[in-house]
Amino acid sequence: MNSLKIYQNIISDEIKNLVLPDEPKDLYTPIRYTLASGGKRLRPALVLLGCNLYKQELKQAIKPALALEIFHNFTLLHDDIMDNSSIRRKQLTVHKKWNKNVAILSGDAMQIIAFEYFTELPKNKIIPILKLFNKTALQVCEGQQYDMDFESRLDVSINEYLEMIRLKTSVLLAASLKIGAIIGGASKENANFLYDYAQNIGLAFQLQDDLLDTYGDTEIFGKQVGNDIITNKKTYLLISALKLSDDKQKIKLISLLDTQNINSEEKINRVKEIYNQLEIKNITEEKIKYYFNNALKNIENIELKNEKKEILVDFAKSLINRKY
Ligand code: IPE
Ligand code: IPE
Ligand code: MG
Ligand code: MG
Ligand code: MG
Repeated sequence: MNSLKIYQNIISDEIKNLVLPDEPKDLYTPIRYTLASGGKRLRPALVLLGCNLYKQELKQAIKPALALEIFHNFTLLHDDIMDNSSIRRKQLTVHKKWNKNVAILSGDAMQIIAFEYFTELPKNKIIPILKLFNKTALQVCEGQQYDMDFESRLDVSINEYLEMIRLKTSVLLAASLKIGAIIGGASKENANFLYDYAQNIGLAFQLQDDLLDTYGDTEIFGKQVGNDIITNKKTYLLISALKLSDDKQKIKLISLLDTQNINSEEKINRVKEIYNQLEIKNITEEKIKYYFNNALKNIENIELKNEKKEILVDFAKSLINRKY
């Protein structure tokens, strides 16, 4: 079994044993529903990995790992309202199964539960870790706001997009690994190199998410394919298409973004047709490889035994061809 699987199993077991109050039902049932629905458990796996790079004993990292997973799940509850998404992890999103108010409040409670899990850290580590976590959580909000702002803009640049995904997605993965490393006892310098590595992985990860949102298979991806196109998200795919299209294609694309009275399936198919003409899938895959290679370069800077470096390489590789 590879290390990622081992960490994922540890987290899944911990989540199964999580005790939450029964009442009020509409506050806690959606939390149980969300946490039981699985997902890749990447952020907690990164916490455990970060710790394990520097020490064998994982005990101190378990609660913080859970905190990161619960926080991530909270962001998904609110994100699904913002993106009007109906399906996640192959099941109805909380705001569709219950309603928006339930998803907002259950999300809020999850955020508070996440904070609580940091309180058992050794005294000298609570402040630096909470500072990093708070900074990261605020950056996620910033990224999410840019993501929303960009829906109604046509002039979003690739650089603006990259900064947006760095904030909404990468920093949480990076902070997860760094928090684990701090718990494990890494030097400041090494913890920062690990942060850079995971940040590059995070950029590749969100690019892959954008790609799967258009080219994935709903059954495997677990989310409704085409939702980014329906909501005019300025993904790497759309920004590249707007940049590379000729006049005719651009007019077509912009009118597809503008029209209200087109059915979703037709909009998805027509936008995808233009993506295909412009080979957007290949272009996005190249960019994913670029960040993957950046992550590999970051590994060289870290002071670690080669066998530990191999784990970081394997982790990056395990994400690069993901289908969900
Ligand atoms: C979804 O994250 C949100 C993004 C940052 C793309 P994941 O793809 O890690 O979601 P789960 O937890 O595995 O469902
Ligand atoms: C979500 O990005 C990032 C956060 C939840 C902070 P997306 O909106 O692309 O994530 P999915 O595709 O809904 O999982
Ligand atoms: Mg979103
Ligand atoms: Mg979303
Ligand atoms: Mg997405």
